[in-house]
Amino acid sequence: LPSLLAALVFGYLLGSIPFGLILTRLAGLGDVRAIGSGNIGATNVLRTGNKKLAAATLLLDALKGAAAVLIAGRWGPELALAAGFGAFIGHLYPIWIGFKGGKGVATYLGVLLGLAWQGALVFVLVWLIVAFATRYSSLSALVAAVAVPIALFLLGLRDVALLFAIMSLIVFIKHQANISRLMNGTEGKIGAKG
Ligand code: G3P
Repeated sequence: LPSLLAALVFGYLLGSIPFGLILTRLAGLGDVRAIGSGNIGATNVLRTGNKKLAAATLLLDALKGAAAVLIAGRWGPELALAAGFGAFIGHLYPIWIGFKGGKGVATYLGVLLGLAWQGALVFVLVWLIVAFATRYSSLSALVAAVAVPIALFLLGLRDVALLFAIMSLIVFIKHQANISRLMNGTEGKIGAKG
C-alpha cells in the first residue's frame, strides 16, 4: 500500500506540470486561460494560432503520462496503473496552479500508450476519424473515450479497461461545457481562433 500511494503521488506531481500554460507563457503569448475555452490543453493552445506550440503541448502532456507509467512500472504493473491514474488526476487538478487544470485528453492518451499501446492506437484512429468528419476536438475525444475501455475489455486487459472506464467517465465530466456547446451548436472547431 505505501508503494501504491507513492506511485500515485509521483504520477500526480508529474501530471501536475501544466505544459500548455508554461509553453504559451515562454512564447510570450500571455495566459492561454484567457482565450477560447479557457483550457490549458493543446486544443486551446492551437487557438493562439501557433501550431508548433499546440503540437508540443500535446506531446508533452501525453509524455508526462507515459513517463509516469513507464517509470513506476519498473517496480510492478499495479504501480504503473497507480502512477498513470495519478498523472491523469495531476493534469486535471494541478497543485501548482490552484488545482485548476485541463481536461486530461492528452495525458489520458499518454498513460494509455504506456500501459497498452493497442488501446492508444484505437484512441488515435477513432479521434482522427471523428475529427476529420466533424472538426470538433472535444467530440473526437469523447467518442474515443467511449471506444477505448470497450476495446481494452475486448483485448482481455481487464485491469486497464476498468481504469480507463473510470478515466473516461472523468473525461466526460470535465467536458460538460463542451457537451453543452456541442448540443447548441456553439462549440469551436479545431484551429478556429477563439
Ligand atoms: O482535449 C481537450 C478538448 O477535448 C477540448 O478542448 O479547449 O475545446 O475545451 P477545449
